[in-house]
Amino acid sequence: MTDLSLDLRTDTITRPTAEMWEAMQSAELGWAHVGEDENVLELEAEVASLLGKEAGLLVQTGSAANLVALMTHAERGDQVVLDEASHIVWSEEWGVAYVCGLFPRLVESVGGRMEPEAVREAIERSLLGHLPSTSLVCLESSHNFGGGTALGSEYLGPIAEIARARGAWTHLDGARLLNTCAALGEEPRAAAAGIDSVVLNLNKGLSAPGGAVLAGTRSFIAEARLNLRRVGGSAGHQAGILAAAGLVALRTMVPQHAEDNRRARLLAERLNELDRVAVDLDRVQTNIVVVQLDDAPALALELGRRGLGTLPMGPNGLRLVTHRHVTDASVERAVELLAAAAGA
Ligand SMILES: Cc1ncc(COP(=O)(O)O)c(C=O)c1O
Repeated sequence: MTDLSLDLRTDTITRPTAEMWEAMQSAELGWAHVGEDENVLELEAEVASLLGKEAGLLVQTGSAANLVALMTHAERGDQVVLDEASHIVWSEEWGVAYVCGLFPRLVESVGGRMEPEAVREAIERSLLGHLPSTSLVCLESSHNFGGGTALGSEYLGPIAEIARARGAWTHLDGARLLNTCAALGEEPRAAAAGIDSVVLNLNKGLSAPGGAVLAGTRSFIAEARLNLRRVGGSAGHQAGILAAAGLVALRTMVPQHAEDNRRARLLAERLNELDRVAVDLDRVQTNIVVVQLDDAPALALELGRRGLGTLPMGPNGLRLVTHRHVTDASVERAVELLAAAAGA
């Protein structure tokens, strides 16, 4: 794929802006590994503040940040409650069990939304007096496999309350939390209020070349830092380069999320006008569009040959994600290409 405006597979392909390149080029570097890089420290503090948390930890990827959060909240052998379509489980290849040694209890969900009663039941269910120790409930917003659903404080808060009342922590995979916040008109700190730890990606709608920040209490982050080392991770000895781009991303790219959400809506509405394809418009709440059609994997291959990047989601779902390189004109072109390839 060379034309980024037609690469709708993901928003992680977004390239750094000119200002980010400039910031990376001129970043004053310190030894980040021992906490001596000013840009890293500033970025960690800024994201923590945005999310209403005490401290932050810059990590190379959102997946690694989630992993370290899980390790830090829970002891090996504990049960962790997640929704059945959780990115942490499926797209992070069961690292929850493989690396962290946790037992994932998957709870039915619609658009990533678990029923509070089902979460309560998952934590409290015992058999013949045997009750697993549930130390963590994981949430995700926006919800990737849910089709980009925007789950804000109205959903997250009560679940966090249920967990807390039963002695469990809550972790939010907020890789695209800023898309949710743009959709709901909610401040990130309000959305994440009551949640113990949050991961925010810098490499999606924010357009930085990489990185995610895990935020939580000071003591949680201090422990997470050690766990990151235990799994051989860090943001890099000279992570200041990444942090310099991340700071620009945070200060300049937040408004982009509303634009990305608007274009996803436009794309969804235009696609829904075609024959033989369908989009559940109620699910199009942020920058992800999932199109229902026949033989999605074969169609994705064909679309790739014609220059449009899409991602199959199962046999009948095709994911298209808007991002800063997508224009209104490229949305129209994407619709034309999809219509021609699908005979719609
Ligand atoms: C919901 C969600 N969580 C976490 C991640 C992981 O982020 P990264 O690709 O930086 O590991 C992604 C990436 O696609 C995601 O969509």
